[in-house]
Amino acid sequence: MSEIYSEIIGTGSYLPEKIVTNEDLSKVVDTSDEWIFTRTGIKERRVADDGEYTSDLSARAISDALKNANVSVDDVDLLIVATITPDLVFPATACIVQKKLGLKNAVVFDIQAACSGFVYGLTVADAMIKSGQYKTAVVVGAETLSRITDWTDRTTCVLFGDGAGAAVLRATSKKTGILSYSIKSDGNYVDILKATGGPSMTKTSGNIYMEGKEVFKLAVARMPEISKEVVAKAGYTMADVDCFIPHQANVRIIDAALKNLDIPEEKVVKSIQSHGNISSACIPLALNIATKNGQLKKGDKVLLTAMGAGFTWGSVFLEF
Ligand code: UT7
Repeated sequence: MSEIYSEIIGTGSYLPEKIVTNEDLSKVVDTSDEWIFTRTGIKERRVADDGEYTSDLSARAISDALKNANVSVDDVDLLIVATITPDLVFPATACIVQKKLGLKNAVVFDIQAACSGFVYGLTVADAMIKSGQYKTAVVVGAETLSRITDWTDRTTCVLFGDGAGAAVLRATSKKTGILSYSIKSDGNYVDILKATGGPSMTKTSGNIYMEGKEVFKLAVARMPEISKEVVAKAGYTMADVDCFIPHQANVRIIDAALKNLDIPEEKVVKSIQSHGNISSACIPLALNIATKNGQLKKGDKVLLTAMGAGFTWGSVFLEF
């Protein structure tokens, strides 16, 4: 039997309308545009409307991705929602999205791997497609982090935002799409980045706790390490990477990774400036932005790398 591969046939995204700039935040907490931009690369972030939840953001991003992939809702047989801000404790946000979009032929579930959620989701979808039982999968990363942000804590409130990004994957017998991946976890770090509140619909706030410097150091070390691992695993070298899409948590982490990996600036996608850290949504959002602005083309070799709370981290190397 010939091997089955999973290729991305469409991407989509959604950002809430409300923009909160660094200038706006400097009126609420003791911060400045200069500090936020130079330390993180962020200029503005989006905040979901009252009554707009992770399932709504997911549904919008998925609809956009299905349209771009020219796939109907009835063809989707698998939906994975990656989120740390589910609408409710249960049922899964994926079930709420299923109802909203009428995905009647899909099996749906959530995964929780923080900022690595989309990368984890791709690997799970790939394994399920490779089993031969699923043909058309959607993976969405979606967050309403504004609901669990402490808007009085300048060390965290300037970093996060709301949004969603999605990708449609299809089974193919051609050797393309996902070529290799690696995902890892280390529970020894549970206490340096965590949230005690939520879910999104209960409007509990003030719950994100982060030891920024420790997280920064881990990200700078682990992201290049796992990136090298997946590119080598697929039989390629770093010079073969056409497009690098790292998690968008801090532009200084991205720049350190570029230096370590010897990837030139023109090959990286940096979208953090206009949306901040949206955890699981960052990579699919950046993927969609790069597709739309022409930075990413069909056939390009793409490296996706994320790291987040847990700690979880992972990389996917694919032919687009
Ligand atoms: O998505 C999951 C992964 N998350 C990440 O990867 C985030 C990783 N961490 C980071 O990106 C960075 O550590 C931060 C952006 C969170 C912080 O940057 P930093 O360069 O590590 O700054 P710091 O925490 O060492 O703070 C430096 C100074 C401190 O003042 P003192 O002690 O030097 O007087 C802070 O109190 O900056 C102060 N500070 C601020 N000043 C103005 C902290 N936050 C702010 C702020 N505005 N918003």
